[in-house]
Amino acid sequence: MNLLPSFPLPVHALVVGASGGVGGALMRCLLDAPDVERVTAWSRTALCAQHPKLSVRSLDIVDERQISAAASAIVQPLHLIIVATGLLHDGEIQPEKTWRALNAEALQRTFAVNTIGPALVAKHTLPLMPRHGRAVFAALSAKVGSIGDNNLGGWYGYRAAKAALNQILRTLSIELATRRPDAICVGLHPGTVDTALSQPFQSDATRDRMFSPEVSARHLLSVIDRLSPADSGSVRSWDGSVIPP
Ligand SMILES: NC(=O)c1ccc[n+]([C@@H]2O[C@H](COP(=O)([O-])OP(=O)(O)OC[C@H]3O[C@@H](n4cnc5c(N)ncnc54)[C@H](OP(=O)(O)O)[C@@H]3O)[C@@H](O)[C@H]2O)c1
Repeated sequence: MNLLPSFPLPVHALVVGASGGVGGALMRCLLDAPDVERVTAWSRTALCAQHPKLSVRSLDIVDERQISAAASAIVQPLHLIIVATGLLHDGEIQPEKTWRALNAEALQRTFAVNTIGPALVAKHTLPLMPRHGRAVFAALSAKVGSIGDNNLGGWYGYRAAKAALNQILRTLSIELATRRPDAICVGLHPGTVDTALSQPFQSDATRDRMFSPEVSARHLLSVIDRLSPADSGSVRSWDGSVIPP
């Protein structure tokens, strides 16, 4: 059964962050779909996956020269671009519980991966979309990036970087409407998903409502397929509902 019936056939998709939990599941869903002819996968950690429809490339999303070189190697047109990279924690960065933990280097790195990287991917890949006809650029954001919905506090850098990403996506959508009137640019919240990113924060309560990466990927692709140009600039949750700015 076709995965993306609203798209013109055959679909060419790009997944950025294909070594991640959600990004990898998105890549596998797209490779399995009969209506998807070609999948290009970019990842920082090299992929061992092999498939006749798959082209892979390693890059760091904070390095614009690498993004530009990878984009110039892509076979056009690109109908679907999904940016599934993100950073909440690593060996050095932990989400801040208090303002006392705010640190310039950690904030810069968090913004570089969560906000600047997706913006640079958009800069180099939106021109590869068809001039007319359906095309979607989606970047994975997070519900905690909603300013209106922030009642818990904490996670300063990650929240702020995702809020800034949402503003970048909104601004891209306004320019995109003038250049590619049928194209759509959105942010997507994948739900709470069982991946390396969420692992340190999982509890018995969250585990009950946590998705596997495969289930989240199927929800996200279904939301993408149902989007219309009027939805461009919004941030949508895994069930299609709007996340407030
Ligand atoms: N999991 C959740 O519950 C949840 C909830 C809300 C939102 N999200 C969002 O969903 C997206 C996917 O997250 P996930 O759960 O799949 O996390 P994940 O498994 O940790 O994957 C993150 C991906 O980002 C890549 N990445 C990080 N820094 C990079 C860089 N400088 N250059 C290139 N790639 C880089 C990682 O590459 P490496 O493999 O090389 O490290 C990995 O592929 C993120 O935007 C996240 O914020 C996740």
